[in-house]
Amino acid sequence: MTEQASAKVNMEKIVSLCRRRGFIFPNSEIYGGLSSCWDYGPLGVELKRNIKQAWWRAVVQERDDMVGLDTSILMHPQVWTASGHLKEFADPLVECKSCHLRWRSDDLDGNNCPSCGGELTESRLFNLMFKTFMGPIEGEASVVYLRPETAQGIFVNFQNVVNTTRKRLPFGIAQIGKAFRNEITTGNFIFRSREFEQMEIEFFVKPGTDEEWFEYWLEERLNWYVKLGIKRENLKLRQHTKEELAHYAINCRDINYLFPMGWAELEGVANRGDFDLVQHASSSGKSLKYLDEETNEHIIPYIIEPSAGVDRSTLAFLCDAYDEEPYKNEIRVLLHLHPTLAPIKVAVLPLSRREKLVTVAKQIYADLRPHWMVSYDDAQSIGRRYRRQDEIGTPFCVTVDFQSLEDEQATIRERDTMNQIRVPIKELKAVLAAKLSGECFDTQLL
Ligand code: GAP
Repeated sequence: MTEQASAKVNMEKIVSLCRRRGFIFPNSEIYGGLSSCWDYGPLGVELKRNIKQAWWRAVVQERDDMVGLDTSILMHPQVWTASGHLKEFADPLVECKSCHLRWRSDDLDGNNCPSCGGELTESRLFNLMFKTFMGPIEGEASVVYLRPETAQGIFVNFQNVVNTTRKRLPFGIAQIGKAFRNEITTGNFIFRSREFEQMEIEFFVKPGTDEEWFEYWLEERLNWYVKLGIKRENLKLRQHTKEELAHYAINCRDINYLFPMGWAELEGVANRGDFDLVQHASSSGKSLKYLDEETNEHIIPYIIEPSAGVDRSTLAFLCDAYDEEPYKNEIRVLLHLHPTLAPIKVAVLPLSRREKLVTVAKQIYADLRPHWMVSYDDAQSIGRRYRRQDEIGTPFCVTVDFQSLEDEQATIRERDTMNQIRVPIKELKAVLAAKLSGECFDTQLL
């Protein structure tokens, strides 16, 4: 039996919520959209930024064995010959002889076109790299490629990083950036697109310790998703068979997530061995060896690569957070986003638009804004405004009412439990800071 994601969530609901509330829009929509390209709206850009920041914090800032890098999307064309991408980075493509739609043959169940049932051509390999030209003259000599993975920028800078940071093995280099693949088939919203972002770690280790580090990174990366709120039962590991390993890998396991369309890859953790450094050393003629000071030997490190997709993580966090519950004869839609990821941390809501309330609420809004992404909303009933914040995953609402004018207190309302507490206005910042960082708080419940 195929496993199903929560019955409450499906892709249509996620796409509709993202569109309606400004998380994600179809690209170039006023021109009819560009297939498989998506634009992140005001809330989406915050969510995505928070995911990248949480990743960077966990893998770079909080570790002493990792440094960051930000390399160019365009690279010397020889990189892609050496890395094997020019020859190997291809998917098997078939075309329908009737409707001319193209398919990845390894995605098909039968031998006929899934759209019209027509006969398919023989499978041929289709290289997934986007080609463009550098400079004003278009010709073979000026061909360059948009990188299909950020990893190569790290490999070609290995020696630069060793020389400038004096990092010793084992250590890693992390990078977040755009990658491009001319995928034959795209779809499932932002799951598979032609332009996407990756968060990649290349972790350099002594040969012989590689499988130990491989297991270590699988565990680390799995825990990262769980710490940020993904339910453990919605994640599982999938071992690659020998036949499906990428051309550079000697071992690989995917971290799969139970998306609405079924289990699919969220992140890949690969043991790339010494493939990349050996290839680049031989192709460039430069030594990419590392002096092991313990043995005084020059070695080529092995590389463990946890490679995550920013867009797929965004989709997984959204799907996992999505919830619907009955509330007062209606359905309350909410995103249980971890406070670290929530696009807006606090919404300030005056009970009415009376000037005296607005003045106090606007002052609170101004006081909180330097610390977090805060929104201000005074349109429609307070109930509707709470629903609007629940639907975008805002962990806390601060409500200013008429009593606030007398006792200088405001109400903090929590998204998941809808519990409310009354707090002196001058303590709001400290109380919210404690709550957002997960510390307990003991002000009396209303
Ligand atoms: N450097 C290794 C590498 O690129 P990959 O498994 O091809 O490995 C890593 O890609 C991650 O990048 C995937 O787990 C996925 O999250 C993301 N990814 C790959 N292709 C994608 C696409 N077409 N659209 C969105 N994300 C993609």
